[in-house]
Amino acid sequence: MEKTLRTHTCGELTAAKAGSAATLTGWVHTRRDHGGIIFIDIRDRYGFTQVVFEPAAASNLFSEAEAIRREWVVQVSGKVRKRDASMVNSKISTGEIELVAEKLIILNKSEVPPFSLDEWSETNETLRLKYRYIDLRRHEMQRHFIIRHKASIAVRNFLSGEGFLEIETPMLVRSTPEGARDFVVPSRMNPGTFYALPQSPQLYKQLLMVSGMDRYFQIARCMRDEDLRADRQPEFTQIDIEASFINEEFIYDTVERMLSKMFKDAADISIAAPFTHLTHAEAMAKYGCDKPDLRFDLPLTDVTDIAKASDFSVFKAVTEKGGIVKCIAPKHDFSKGDLEDLIAFCQSNGAKGMAWMRVTDNGLESNIVKYFNADIQKKLLDAVKPEIGATLMFIADKPKACNDIISRLRNELGKRMGLIKADKFAFCWVTDFPMFEYDEKDKSIVAAHHIFTAPNSNHLDFLETEPLKVTARSYDLVLNGIEVASGSIRIHDSEMQKRVLKVIGVSEEEASKKFGFLLEAFKFGAPPHGGIAPGFDRLIALMCGFNDIREVIAFPKTQSGTSLLDGCPSEIDAIQMRDLKLKSLAQIPTP
Ligand code: AMO
Repeated sequence: MEKTLRTHTCGELTAAKAGSAATLTGWVHTRRDHGGIIFIDIRDRYGFTQVVFEPAAASNLFSEAEAIRREWVVQVSGKVRKRDASMVNSKISTGEIELVAEKLIILNKSEVPPFSLDEWSETNETLRLKYRYIDLRRHEMQRHFIIRHKASIAVRNFLSGEGFLEIETPMLVRSTPEGARDFVVPSRMNPGTFYALPQSPQLYKQLLMVSGMDRYFQIARCMRDEDLRADRQPEFTQIDIEASFINEEFIYDTVERMLSKMFKDAADISIAAPFTHLTHAEAMAKYGCDKPDLRFDLPLTDVTDIAKASDFSVFKAVTEKGGIVKCIAPKHDFSKGDLEDLIAFCQSNGAKGMAWMRVTDNGLESNIVKYFNADIQKKLLDAVKPEIGATLMFIADKPKACNDIISRLRNELGKRMGLIKADKFAFCWVTDFPMFEYDEKDKSIVAAHHIFTAPNSNHLDFLETEPLKVTARSYDLVLNGIEVASGSIRIHDSEMQKRVLKVIGVSEEEASKKFGFLLEAFKFGAPPHGGIAPGFDRLIALMCGFNDIREVIAFPKTQSGTSLLDGCPSEIDAIQMRDLKLKSLAQIPTP
């Protein structure tokens, strides 16, 4: 018996094969009946091939061909024939030939598909997700998975070549303190207890360092029960990395070389390394956020001190209450209407308003310039250094709100001014994040990355007294304004870990309950170590030209965490409930 049902794929036959016999298999993409001659394009992962059914062919062949419909699965045997020059389709690899059918076998019929593969862009997301297997038949979707596959091979080969070992870590774990909610799994054998699904392999990769594995990686699935966005799914994939006896420079160098290889091998994209570096403080000052899109410049200037001295009541009121004023100076021909639009944009992002002044040959012009005397105007121009023709745009607010609004305005300006080139990949390391943050909601100090992140050694003296001034040995990698990786050098001794836990108010008892096993391991000779976890889905999506990671995940969930394909999450039957000793909501009395 032949090994396969075909001699060639639908993307393979060229003019060089003219005159030879071939058998193809695939899906009927289109069928065109040209009065007495039928053309079908059959499609598989590799391409399309035009098949011709001529009336002169065997008697029932033509009538069989008349019956076939879109998405039927067929096997066609025949002779490869060169097309007339006028019929050549240079857009596809098989465009010079056609297969003249001699035999047709219908391998399977298909109901009328819920959407046409050619008109998918008009298909709503719900249908695409419900019939994902049809959506995935589109070459454009298959391209994403070819890129994804090549990327994971490139990563594996690269890291293996650098001495990293791929080691799997458990999927049923004790809850890991990563910050999101855990998905939990009830234990049948230990009624009333639960496993958590890992939010990341964080604790296990650190344990592997204590085990002397030295360099670990894993293309790891992570599960987090958090609110979803375009770049967030409840289950996603990280290229999880950890190494011993290393500093930050090792991580930067390894990741830059790994991503260069991955982008090149998977999508033929050359990226420029070394990447830009900004400390967290620099990123906040210059771009108002810790994920700056560096595909364009448009830096911000803090003009609080200058604005404070003006007579403009809005600026005075904000600065008197500890607020700040920041300015951006795009050079673009904005009409009055454009400016009103931008003001509305800022307001929709929480701004009370947006003040502006035009920079002309005759100085600053706008209806608020009168509140700024000549000296203050000069100081403004000296600080911002705008070009003639630029517009100064100001946001005044509490520091967090001001940065948040003006960084969104910066991104919006980048878009509206056409500064963002689709094929540009601007990577940026953001380093030295604050070690702790103040959680307004809980009125408490929390770890900004995770609790195993090492503080900068020159900040240890004020770890307890001024924790919010302590920076961490942490780093994020940002690509085109999206966080694509995050990591840190870790704490490796239990005493330091205890100090940090104390600052965030985690008692020893609580710590030992949650991750006592890691603290225990640290007592047995933990090496200095650190690591990082690039988000695989986000990187692949950006490589393919998307922000929405669902485009590069075969079977993603909806925004509300459901699967339209298999209908999960779903109830489980009474027997499963009983075995797991679980009560259904209906059985729990309402208080
Ligand atoms: P962190 O939680 O920052 O760090 O995650 C690392 C990277 O994973 C990606 N990512 C996600 N992608 C899709 N959907 C999500 N819900 C999602 N959440 C995170 C992002 C992010 O930068 N253990 C640490 C890493 C370390 O310290 O080594 C961790 O998981 O690209």
